[in-house]
Amino acid sequence: MASYSTIKLSITDNGVANLVLDRPEKQNSLSPELHHELLDALDTVEEENGRVLVISGNGDAFCGGMDLERAFLRPRRDGPQEFIQANAAILEAMTRLKHYPIPTVAKIDGWTFGGGYELMGVCDFAIARDDATFGLSEINFGIFPGGGTMWATVHTMNRRKAMYYAATGETFTGNEAEEYGAVTMAVPGEELNQTVDDLVESLLEKNPVTLRFNKEVFEKSRYMTFEDSVDYEMAKMEEMSYLQGEDWIETALKQFEDREFRPGLESYDTGNTDD
Ligand code: ACO
Repeated sequence: MASYSTIKLSITDNGVANLVLDRPEKQNSLSPELHHELLDALDTVEEENGRVLVISGNGDAFCGGMDLERAFLRPRRDGPQEFIQANAAILEAMTRLKHYPIPTVAKIDGWTFGGGYELMGVCDFAIARDDATFGLSEINFGIFPGGGTMWATVHTMNRRKAMYYAATGETFTGNEAEEYGAVTMAVPGEELNQTVDDLVESLLEKNPVTLRFNKEVFEKSRYMTFEDSVDYEMAKMEEMSYLQGEDWIETALKQFEDREFRPGLESYDTGNTDD
């Protein structure tokens, strides 16, 4: 596996990829080097058949947003092309992450600003410390949340809260983020690791092909009419069944027929976990 200087990446034997933003001295802000390393890591996790991706930050921050000097100030002074070039990789990485084929979990242990909010927002799940601090601070230095951050904001918070925080730059806590729907769950700091581990374990129990389709259908259905969605979901169901080898019939519902599990309360045994 490649070695990195701004992130750390490890993948466990059962496919849990832990990607740690590792610029604690700069609050894990997103420098151009980190943009490229993040993209490379996303390739690596796919190549190595990662099953769940967990993104976290080293130190006081999950992510302090874009590196305001190295990604914005200096390249902007150098010229428009330099600015575009300095930021192309992070735009690609955010887009990749939004469509990433395996479940993605943002583990929020501290400061989360601007581009850091976007990084969290394009992940499927976000588990935060209840006292973590979030902010859309762009307005504080004269721009609006851009490059996908506005999208992440309006898709993770209701209209009133999204506009309030984008326009004022006020910060909000993990608890408030949970209340607004911006994170999946906020928990006391001492419970953060266990809560993320439990979520990861639950995801590992599921059929990975189904999880991939679940995400794709979830995202697209949000923009469809009901009638289009019925059609689309039925077609996708057939594609999924084919690609998983009819596992839902041959294994899952067979286990139900044999009364080996209660689907309302637990997952069927996919054979993917040790228990
Ligand atoms: N870009 C570049 N450097 C940063 C960033 C950033 N986004 N965030 C923090 N740093 C640097 C600080 O300048 C400081 O560097 P220095 O040691 O060379 O002075 C170092 O990281 C440590 O940060 P402090 O400010 O000393 O830490 P403190 O705990 O006092 O404050 C806080 C933390 C609130 C996160 C503060 O660093 C801050 O306001 N950072 C900027 C957050 C932000 O607005 N990000 C941009 C979002 S908008 C976007 O992403 C497009």
